[in-house]
Amino acid sequence: MVTTQRTKEICQVVRLKSTQVFLVAGTVLLTVMVSLLCIGLMTRYEVEHDVANVADVDYWKDKVAPTQKIWYDKGIEELNEALRSPRDPLYPRNVRIFLVQGVDARDLAAFRFTAKDITERNTNFVWDQFPHLARLKNSCSQQFPCQVDRVSRALWSGIPLDEVPESQPDCEEFINGTETPLSILRQAQLAGLRTGFVTTQRITGSTGAALGNTYSNYECDERMPLGSLKSGCQDIARQLITGVTGKSLNVIIGGGRQMLSTLVPKTRWDPVDELLCESNDGRNLLKEWRNQKLRESKIKPIKFDLVQRTDELESLNASSFDHILGIMANGDLRGNARAPSLKLMVEKSVEVIKKPGQGYLLIVEQLIKSDMDKIKELQLLNETLVSLQEDKDTLTLVLMTNAIYSKPSLDVSEETETINHLMQTFNGTELEIQQRLHQMPSDTLLFARGPKSAIFRGVRKETFLAHAVSHVLSRSRNNG
Ligand SMILES: *[C@@H]1O[C@H](CO)[C@@H](O)[C@H](O)[C@H]1NC(C)=O
Ligand SMILES: *[C@@H]1O[C@H](CO)[C@@H](O)[C@H](O)[C@H]1NC(C)=O
Ligand SMILES: *[C@@H]1O[C@H](CO)[C@@H](O)[C@H](O)[C@H]1NC(C)=O
Ligand SMILES: *[C@@H]1O[C@H](CO)[C@@H](O)[C@H](O)[C@H]1NC(C)=O
Repeated sequence: MVTTQRTKEICQVVRLKSTQVFLVAGTVLLTVMVSLLCIGLMTRYEVEHDVANVADVDYWKDKVAPTQKIWYDKGIEELNEALRSPRDPLYPRNVRIFLVQGVDARDLAAFRFTAKDITERNTNFVWDQFPHLARLKNSCSQQFPCQVDRVSRALWSGIPLDEVPESQPDCEEFINGTETPLSILRQAQLAGLRTGFVTTQRITGSTGAALGNTYSNYECDERMPLGSLKSGCQDIARQLITGVTGKSLNVIIGGGRQMLSTLVPKTRWDPVDELLCESNDGRNLLKEWRNQKLRESKIKPIKFDLVQRTDELESLNASSFDHILGIMANGDLRGNARAPSLKLMVEKSVEVIKKPGQGYLLIVEQLIKSDMDKIKELQLLNETLVSLQEDKDTLTLVLMTNAIYSKPSLDVSEETETINHLMQTFNGTELEIQQRLHQMPSDTLLFARGPKSAIFRGVRKETFLAHAVSHVLSRSRNNG
């Protein structure tokens, strides 16, 4: 009896011990498993983010001459950069697009060698360090000559050039139509993103017209036939200011005061551009913009401002505003000797457009005409891009296009760097034909940096830009 009792006790103790042992063992096992999991995750993280060591990059080291090897070793850094895997699961919250009109690959190559100091030759622009590059086919080179406004529409609406709807003489029906294509900017607005457009030309130029979803052959009302005014047609300037896309824009900065208003200051440093259209008597769309915003602010508190001088823009505490309209010149910005720099306009725009918890789409256009100092202009863009901090939420795209278009349809007489028609192009000596072909629009270069920049590679149609931006922003973390 005693023995049985004793045995029972021993058994209980042992059972207790074994339970403890199981507990301890279980804990140890769990710890090991968690550790292994952590190590696994860390290793994966490191593999994904590690910059491979110079010594790790293999090449046929013993198959090159020693004098050759020096160069192979020096090239490791660039090779490493290229080897870094473009796997990035994240989508950007914001997209910034810089469109440079008037520069192509040939120019970019030439400008690398222009530094006066020989040691500084072959300097890079910031976009040269962007990890991804694509070429966009320019459909204008197949349908030459083409109208710049249609090319802009194709690019910003993602519709092929020959499918872009014609502007209708009966505008009203067209404007009200549900079939109206939406620019990428309007799509972004409808998806709840903040939007901005900055240009060094007038805001009513072809890019502004396309982004603002305007449909008209007239930049302003000066040359609009009475009949079309009566049938309810509106010029681009009016549609931009009173249309739903323009009204929703958080930032518009550019030139074009004379298209918006008859009351323009005519100064020595900012004369009216006689080659561009001017508003008819009595019109003041700047005032209308202000009144419109005042009315809006009664329904929903918004902070807005109209800015017309560089010093006003400089002193603007931009981050506190919901809407900024900056009209910085009568015509294009190049016509105003006191116009703000591209850098200032972009910096202020980013301040306005950046709000916590809300993504944005900012489109910046820099027009470089053939008589301008292209290198200087590109350096301004370089500075602008350097000043913008790279951030992990933002996809930055820089597009370079040579913008040779003839534009027979619009009312603007200035835009006529007309090139011969295609038939005439092939009518001449071999040398003449070659020279003419060189003047045709070439592919657009697209440099990309930031989350999902890896999708911009290879040769793509020009409509790819709108499709790709629409994709990355639709998947962005703004939507949950
Ligand atoms: C572009 O900016 C970078 C950084 O400031 C500078 O190092 C580089 O020289 C600039 N490129 C040119 C061509 O000016
Ligand atoms: C177009 O829309 C406006 C405003 O919604 C309306 O006043 C006008 O009557 C419409 N026109 C046509 C032709 O439907
Ligand atoms: C600028 O605006 C922000 C946001 O409204 C505010 O916090 C800040 O104090 C302002 N700065 C100045 C100098 O007024
Ligand atoms: C082509 O050139 C020839 C000779 O110069 C000329 O006679 C002819 O009219 C030209 N054709 C076209 C389409 O320009």
